[in-house]
Amino acid sequence: MSYKLLFVCLGNICRSPSAENIMNYLIEQSELTERIICDSAGTSSYHIGSPPDRRMSAAAMQKLGFKLRGQARQFQRSDFEEFDLILAMDRENYHNILYLDPTGKYEEKVQLMCDFCSQYTLKEVPDPYYGGSEGFNQVIDLLMDACGGLLEHITSQELDLRS
Ligand code: 4NP
Repeated sequence: MSYKLLFVCLGNICRSPSAENIMNYLIEQSELTERIICDSAGTSSYHIGSPPDRRMSAAAMQKLGFKLRGQARQFQRSDFEEFDLILAMDRENYHNILYLDPTGKYEEKVQLMCDFCSQYTLKEVPDPYYGGSEGFNQVIDLLMDACGGLLEHITSQELDLRS
């Protein structure tokens, strides 16, 4: 059995695909590829079917040396059952996800990505879409920190990592 992570932002073309790709990179380095599965989604339908934003991919290439892979999809109610942990990039995403769970059944599965940061004190991954390249670079830095903390959290608790 694998532990399944879902990263969620608004459009699923900037922040959440970056989180998914960075997490997969760290998982490969830790040889946990079979054990931890990552996916990403957007709370909106704006960019369904689109690849990651070119500016986001350029920042990933520049800072990490790899391109971002993915195709945007919208978050759906069945994701609550499908995934073990759902990571929201900002508070608006967090509330929009929980809006789809009116009884609060899945509330504990949904967390803010920045809660796993250890170096940065920001509580949200800022939306870079309407800003300059600095915003995209900041997304990569924040997510490297948060993904590292998240992997540490998962492995230290051995959450469903036994095969
Ligand atoms: P993301 O960024 O939520 O990190 O993928 C955005 C992408 C698109 C839009 C806003 C944010 N948009 O308004 O189209």
